[in-house]
Amino acid sequence: MAQPTHLTARSGRVLQGTVHAPGDKSMSHRAFILGAMAHGITEIEGLLEGDDVLATGRAVEAFGALTERLGPGRWRVTGQGGFQSPEGIIDCGNAGTGVRLLMGAAAGYGISATFDGDASLRKRPMGRVTDHLERMGARFDWSGDRGLLPAILTGGDLAAIDHVQTVASAQVKSAILLAGLNATGTTTVEEPEKSRDHTERMLRAFGAEVQVVDSGEGWIIRLVGGQPLTGTAVSVPGDPSSAAFPLAAGLIVPGSEVTVEGVMLNPLRTGLFDTWIEMGADLTIANRRQSGGEDVGDITARHSKLRGIVVPETRAASMIDEYPILAATAAFAEGVTVMRGIGEMRVKESDRIALMVAGLRACGVAVEEEPDGFLVTGGTVPGGATVRTAHDHRIAMSHLVLGLAAERAVTVDEPGMIATSFPGFVEMMRGLGAHVAEGV
Ligand code: S3P
Repeated sequence: MAQPTHLTARSGRVLQGTVHAPGDKSMSHRAFILGAMAHGITEIEGLLEGDDVLATGRAVEAFGALTERLGPGRWRVTGQGGFQSPEGIIDCGNAGTGVRLLMGAAAGYGISATFDGDASLRKRPMGRVTDHLERMGARFDWSGDRGLLPAILTGGDLAAIDHVQTVASAQVKSAILLAGLNATGTTTVEEPEKSRDHTERMLRAFGAEVQVVDSGEGWIIRLVGGQPLTGTAVSVPGDPSSAAFPLAAGLIVPGSEVTVEGVMLNPLRTGLFDTWIEMGADLTIANRRQSGGEDVGDITARHSKLRGIVVPETRAASMIDEYPILAATAAFAEGVTVMRGIGEMRVKESDRIALMVAGLRACGVAVEEEPDGFLVTGGTVPGGATVRTAHDHRIAMSHLVLGLAAERAVTVDEPGMIATSFPGFVEMMRGLGAHVAEGV
C-alpha cells in the first residue's frame, strides 16, 4: 500500500478508550540479538514488529540464526551460539540501537561484516561504540568519513576493557557488554548515571552472570567473558516510549480519558510519567504486575491543567526519547517548561532539539533553543502549520498529538517513518476518536 506523503491532525474530538502499547523497542532488538547469540531456541512474545526491529531480525538471520514468525508478535529464534560472516551488507535501516548492539555482538566472533543504514543512520555517530570495540581488539574500516556508516568490521580475539561512561548511553554500554561476552577477562562498565538496563536483565535471563554494584545514582557492571548463552522465553512488555503518545493526547485534549494497558514501568524508562505528574497531570497507574522480568502497569491519562516545571537534568537518561512528546504537552501547560542537559537529543534519529523548536515555532508556540536543551512557554497552540519531520518517527507523532488540541490543524511530512517504532499508531489514535487524516 502506498504511504501517504502527509498526515494531518485536527482538534475537536474527545479521546476515549483503552488500548494496548506495542512491544518495547529496546527489548525487542535485544531479544533477537541475544536469541541469535545463544545456543538453542528463544521464543519471543509481544515483539515489536516495527521496521527497526524487523531490520535487526533480518540482520541476525544474515549472521546465521533462524527466525520464524509464529503469529502476531510471536517469533522463534534458533541461535547457533555465535555469528557467522554474513553474505551481504547488514542494513540496519533507521535503527541506532540495532546497528550499535549488533556491532558489539558481532565483534567477538572473528568475522567480517559491513554495516549500513538509511540516510539518517548514516549521519549518526558510531565512534562512541566502535572506539571501545577497537580498544577490545576489533577493527573498523570506514568507506566514507571515519565514524559514519557504512562501516566494515573485522572481528578478532577480544580482550576485556574497563570503561567509564561519559554519556549515559545504554547503546554504548550494551555494545561493550555484548562484545565482552566473547572477550578474555572481565569487562567493566561504570555508569556515573544509570541508563536503561534491559541488556543486563536479559543477559541474566539467557543464563549469563552479570554483577552489578549499585551506588544509588550510578552503578558498575561486571561481566566475565566466555559465558555461553542459552535460548529462553522472552515476553516483551509494552513500550513506555510509544505509550507516551496516546497518553499525551489524553492529557491535552479536553474531556479525554485514555488508558494504555501493559506499559513497562522499568524505573529507568519512566521519567516522563514522573515529569507529567509533577506538571499536574491526572495520570494513574493500576494493576501493577510483573511481565518478562519487568514491572508493568495500566496507565490512565485524563485531560489535565498542566503547569510548566524545570525538568531535573538527572532524569534525562530515563526519558531521553520522550522530550519531543513532553515538549508537545508543555505547549499546553501554564508557564515555562525547562528542559536542559539533553544534548544527546541532537544525535538521535534527527537533531530533535532543532526539529522540535522549529515545529513548535511553526505552530505558534514560544520556544527558546539552547545548545543542550530548550524551553517551551505554554498556553493555547495556534497550529495551522506543516512540520518537517526529517525522517524522524517521534517528531512526526509528537506534532500529530499536538494537532489534536491545537486551534488549527497540524500536518507532518514523511509519516511512513512512524512504522519504525509504532506501526498502527494512526489506527490506534483513530480508534480513540482522534481526527487524523491523510494529506495536508
Ligand atoms: C536505547 C537507548 C537510547 C535510546 C534509544 C534506545 C536502547 O539511546 O535513545 O532509542 O535500546 O539501548 P542511547 O543509549 O544512545 O542514549
